[in-house]
Amino acid sequence: MIPLDLAALGARADAMLTELAAISAEPDRLTRLYLTPEHRRAADLVAAWMAAAGLAVREDALATVRGRWEAPSGTRRTLILGSHIDTIIDAGRFDGPLGVIAAIVAVDELRRIGVALPFAVEVCAFGDEEGVRFPTTLLGSSAVAGILDPADLDRTDAYDVSVRAALATYGCDPEAVAAARIAAEDAVGYLEVHIEQGPVLEREGVPLGVVTAIAGATRAVVTVSGEAGHAGTVPMGLRLDALAAASELVLAVERIGHAGAASDLVATVGRMAVRPGAVNVVPGAVELSLDVRASSDAPRRAAMAAIAAAAAEIAARRGVGIDIAVTHDRDTAPCTPAIVDVLSDAVAALGLPPRRLMSGAGHDGQAMAMLTDIGMIFVRCRGGVSHNPAEYASPEDIGLAVAALVRAVEGLAEKERERR
Ligand code: GLV
Ligand code: MN
Ligand code: MN
Repeated sequence: MIPLDLAALGARADAMLTELAAISAEPDRLTRLYLTPEHRRAADLVAAWMAAAGLAVREDALATVRGRWEAPSGTRRTLILGSHIDTIIDAGRFDGPLGVIAAIVAVDELRRIGVALPFAVEVCAFGDEEGVRFPTTLLGSSAVAGILDPADLDRTDAYDVSVRAALATYGCDPEAVAAARIAAEDAVGYLEVHIEQGPVLEREGVPLGVVTAIAGATRAVVTVSGEAGHAGTVPMGLRLDALAAASELVLAVERIGHAGAASDLVATVGRMAVRPGAVNVVPGAVELSLDVRASSDAPRRAAMAAIAAAAAEIAARRGVGIDIAVTHDRDTAPCTPAIVDVLSDAVAALGLPPRRLMSGAGHDGQAMAMLTDIGMIFVRCRGGVSHNPAEYASPEDIGLAVAALVRAVEGLAEKERERR
């Protein structure tokens, strides 16, 4: 095994993270939503990095930047590495970009070492992992996995722009979605490096973790319909106040989250839009987001049923309408045991304990699991803080993650050679 310069790998990846984080819609904070001009600029930078690493670069129908390193044998068998380059609003700089950059640096290192792999490697920089602009999520990885629901292309953002129209403006051809798919028989597996986004590794003083499963999630758009009216003239007893009803629902969601059958059940309302939204108008309608997750599927489903029952009760008692439209529903995705073992060996080869842990956050691996074997490496996250600009992983830990990824690719190569 050729030794790796961990400090150099970490410093290089960290500098790339800083450069990518400068690409934002806003000067003072990092916001890079799917199919926006800043997504375009980030994709172009990532494409340039991939090309410099010797990869053949293309962009697919859903705007995933894909850099391919062909195997000397010319086989179609492909190991997929990657993560996402879209962000939340006011993001940290590691959630997503870390996995894309770790993959590019790892592949560059493998090429530099002169490793001949028995499969091609394709690095993917997905868009729409966060699901913030459109009521969709995992669009890019779903297209690669061949599970994209065509109806998702017609979903619209807050300005009524559809995914399909945004793709065309961005420079992609949404009709070419079939060509984005990788055939299941060609896929060797999918590996992703990601910041942990939680406190477990830091608490235990461990730099890297190996993910065992990704928690399932359900997301919905909830519309509460009341009646707008004059704030000065409509008596309290005659109001159909959509915001007051929505507020009751938010508290019900919180209560149901607390009382769930699984201790790791979480239920969140993260966004609320009040219409018409004026100081002197009784709110006529409210749209709110709902996000429910747990490490197993039954408690999540039970929570959704309880939220629907609470909504029906509030609607009946207050005389308003409450509609819950599920926009995303993905069961818990176990990581593939054989890949978990390869990643554990790769971490152990660096002299580190291969701490195994569950992911409460969602990842592109959930879609990729519908195509192929998946595995993830988590990187220690300072204070467990994520979805927050204070998010931080050290260059030292990032260097270890890149090295673990290099060793994992070598490990999978060995397995692939044995498979023949
Ligand atoms: C993605 O970060 C998610 O889990 O919401
Ligand atoms: Mn992420
Ligand atoms: Mn995220």
